[in-house]
Amino acid sequence: MKTKFFVVALILLPIILLAQSSNLTLDVDEVVSKMTLEQKAKQVVGMRMRSPGAPQTTAPVVGQTEDRVPDAAGSTYAIPELAIPSMVVADGPAGLRITPIRGNDSTKTYYATAFPIATLLASTWDTSLVRNVGYTIGNEVLEYGVDIILMPALNLHRNPLCGRNFEYYSEDPLITGSIAAAMVKGLQSTGIGTSIKHFAANNQETNRNNINTIVSERALRELYLKGFEIAVKRSHPWTMMSSYNKINGVYTSESNDLLTLILRNDWDFKGFVMTDWFGGKDPVDQMKAGNDLLMPGVPQQSQVIMEAVKDGALDIKILDNNVKRILNIISRSPAFKKYQYSDKPDLKAHAQVARTAAAEGMVLLKNENSALPLKNEKRLALFGNSSYDLIVGGTGSGDVNEAYSISFEKGLIDAGYTLDDSLRHLYLKYLKEEKAKQPKPRFFRVPSPIPQMSIPVNTIDKIAEKAEVAIVTIGRISGEFTDRKLEGDFYLDSVEQELLENVSTVFHARSKKVIAVLNIGGVIEVTSWRDKVDAILLVWQPGQEGGAAFADVLSGKVNPSGKLATTFPMKYEDVPSSNNFPGTSPDNPEKVVYEEGTYVGYRYFNTFNVKPAYEFGYGLSYTDFSYGKVKLNSNIFKEKLTATLTITNTGKAAGKEIVELYISAPGKRLAKPASELKGYAKTKLLKPGASETVSFVITTQDLASFDPQRTSWIAEAGDYTVKIGSSSNNIQATATFKLPDELVVEKLNKALAPAVDINELTK
Ligand code: BGC
Repeated sequence: MKTKFFVVALILLPIILLAQSSNLTLDVDEVVSKMTLEQKAKQVVGMRMRSPGAPQTTAPVVGQTEDRVPDAAGSTYAIPELAIPSMVVADGPAGLRITPIRGNDSTKTYYATAFPIATLLASTWDTSLVRNVGYTIGNEVLEYGVDIILMPALNLHRNPLCGRNFEYYSEDPLITGSIAAAMVKGLQSTGIGTSIKHFAANNQETNRNNINTIVSERALRELYLKGFEIAVKRSHPWTMMSSYNKINGVYTSESNDLLTLILRNDWDFKGFVMTDWFGGKDPVDQMKAGNDLLMPGVPQQSQVIMEAVKDGALDIKILDNNVKRILNIISRSPAFKKYQYSDKPDLKAHAQVARTAAAEGMVLLKNENSALPLKNEKRLALFGNSSYDLIVGGTGSGDVNEAYSISFEKGLIDAGYTLDDSLRHLYLKYLKEEKAKQPKPRFFRVPSPIPQMSIPVNTIDKIAEKAEVAIVTIGRISGEFTDRKLEGDFYLDSVEQELLENVSTVFHARSKKVIAVLNIGGVIEVTSWRDKVDAILLVWQPGQEGGAAFADVLSGKVNPSGKLATTFPMKYEDVPSSNNFPGTSPDNPEKVVYEEGTYVGYRYFNTFNVKPAYEFGYGLSYTDFSYGKVKLNSNIFKEKLTATLTITNTGKAAGKEIVELYISAPGKRLAKPASELKGYAKTKLLKPGASETVSFVITTQDLASFDPQRTSWIAEAGDYTVKIGSSSNNIQATATFKLPDELVVEKLNKALAPAVDINELTK
C-alpha cells in the first residue's frame, strides 16, 4: 500500500511542482502594448539553432537561452525585461530527440526513450495506451527542459513509398485523428505543449519544399484535413506546424484559407502556428495568413517584417495578433513557470511503457497451423541482418537518441531461447565487416542498408539439423528527404527471396517451422513469398525495447492484438496513387495531382473490388472471437444512434479483440466509398469463454460527405448499413437504418478550392 502511494506520488510530482509555480501570469495585451516593433518582429521569428555538431555561426544573443537544451530543433526569442522567456522546441514523434552527450558537460548523459514508431502505435487501436505513451514522452520533454515537442505527425499514408510514413499513423483519418488526439492529451497532461504536423497534405518527401499538391476540396475535407480536425477539436494542441508543400498553388504557411478560415474559424483553434523548418517563402504573407512563428528563424525575416509594417504592407494589428498568440502559449510553458527540470527522467520505467506498447502494436499476419506462439521449441535459428541489428525507428528529425536497444537476438536469449551459435557468429562477423565499409552516416539521412547476407544451402542444412524453428527477419529503413524505391525496398531483393526460399525448403523438408518477421517502417510486398513461411509477424520498427517485446509475442506471454491501420496491396500497381506518385516527373516533380480523390487505401480497394494482400483492419490473434448480433436502439436516425454487440473469446488463450464499425451510405448524389470506418473499440483482455459488450455512438457527422458545391457536410436521405467486423473485409454483423430526410450537418467557409475544375476528381 505504502509503495503504491509512493509510486503514485512520484509520478505526480512534476505535475504538482508545475502547478505550484503556475501562479505566474502574463498580461498579454499589456505586454504587447509595451513591445517595440523590433521586439514584435523578433518574437515571431525563431532563434535559429545550430545543426547538431555544427559550429555556432552566430553569437548567442544576450539574454537568450539558446544553450538551455543544446541542439534541440529550435527556440523562441526571449525579452527578459518584459519577463518573456525563450521556449525550447524539440522533435518527436517516436520520443524526444535531443543530443545525448553535451560538449560542455562530460558528467551527464541526456538519452531519451525510443518508443515504437507512429504506425505501430496506430496498429494498437488503443487510445488509452497511446495516451500513456504520450504522458511518458511528455515527462521526458518536461524533465529535459523542453517546452514544446514537435509531434504527433499525422499525414495520411496516401502511398506506401512515402519515406516518412513511419512517422504517420494510418491511411484512415478517423484512426489518425483519434490516435493523435490521445497522444496530444497524454503529452499535454504533463504541462508541456505539442505541435501537430505537417499541416497539411504533405504526403511525400520528393520535392517536399515546393511540390504543388492539387487536390479536390472534398478529398481535403474528408481525408487530408479530417485527422487534423479531429485532433484539434478533441485535444486542443498548443501549436500546429504548417507543412512545406503548396495546396492548390499556395504554400500552406501562406494560406489564409488553411490557417485562418479552416483552422481558426471552422475549427476554433486557439494556439499558434509555426512553419516547418525554413518552410514557405514570404514572411509577410505568412504573418497575414496566420502562420505566427517562422522556424527555425533567420534574422532577415524579422527585417522584412519590420519594413513591411513601416511601409504599410503589413498592418501592425495583424502582427500584434501573431505575437499575442505566441505569448499566450509562452505564458503556459514550463519555461515561463520556471519549472525546475531535473534532467533525470525515469528512463527505466519509461522503457517498460515502450515495451508494452511495442508488443500491443505488433500484427500477426499469418499463422498457419498455429505455428505461433512457440510451444516447446527452444532452439532457434535466427536469419536476417536486422535480427542482430534492430531497426528501432526511421531516420531524420524523427530519430531518437536512445541509450541502448534490444535486438531480436538479445530479446530471445533473455527470454530463455537458445540461438544457433554458428549462425549468430556468421551474422555478427558479417555485420561488423560491412559496417566498417560503410560511408560515414550523413546527418539526418537514411544510411545505405547493409545488403542481406547470402547463406549457402548446405550451411542452412547443417543449421536445420539442430535448430527446431527458423526465424527470418526482413528489415527496412527510411526517413526524411527521400521517398522509398520499389526495387529492393517495397519489393524484396533477390538475396532476400533466395534466403526465404532456401530456409523454407530446408526447414520444411525436416518438418520444421519457418517464421518471417517484418522489421519495417512502411508497407512492403508480401504476396510473392508469403506461401513459403508458416507465420508472419509484423513488428514494425518497434523502438528500443523491440527485441524484448518480440520475445513476449513469440513466446505467447503477450497474445498479439494489433491490426493494420494501412493496407498491404498485392502489388504496387494496385495502389490507387501509383500512377501519380510522387508527381508529374519522378525525380523533381513540380506538382502532384491526387487523381484518386477520396479513394485512398481501403476506400479504394473495397469499392473497386481490388483484392489486397492484407486488408485495412486485419490482424490475427492466438485465440478466436465470435461476434453477436448488432442491436441498434432505433432503425430511424434522429440525432444519433447507438449500436451494441457482444464479443466472446471462443478460443483457448486470453486475448483482446479490436472491433471495427463501418458505415455504407446511400451514396446517390455524392458517390461514396463502399464503406468507411466510423468507430472502433478494443476489448479488455478476455479469458477463454469471456464476453464483453461494446457500444458505438453514430452521429450525424458519421453519415455526412463534404459537398463542394454547397461547401457543406451533407447527410443524404436513404438507407444506411452498419457493418461491424474484425477487419474492413471481414464483416461479422450488420444492421440497417434509415435517414428520412437529408441533413445539412455543417455549413462552412469556401476554402482551398483548386483553380482548375477537377470535379471529376471528386469521384
Ligand atoms: C521536419 C519536421 C521537424 C523539423 C525540425 C523538418 O525537417 O520536416 O518534422 O519537426 O524539421 O527538426
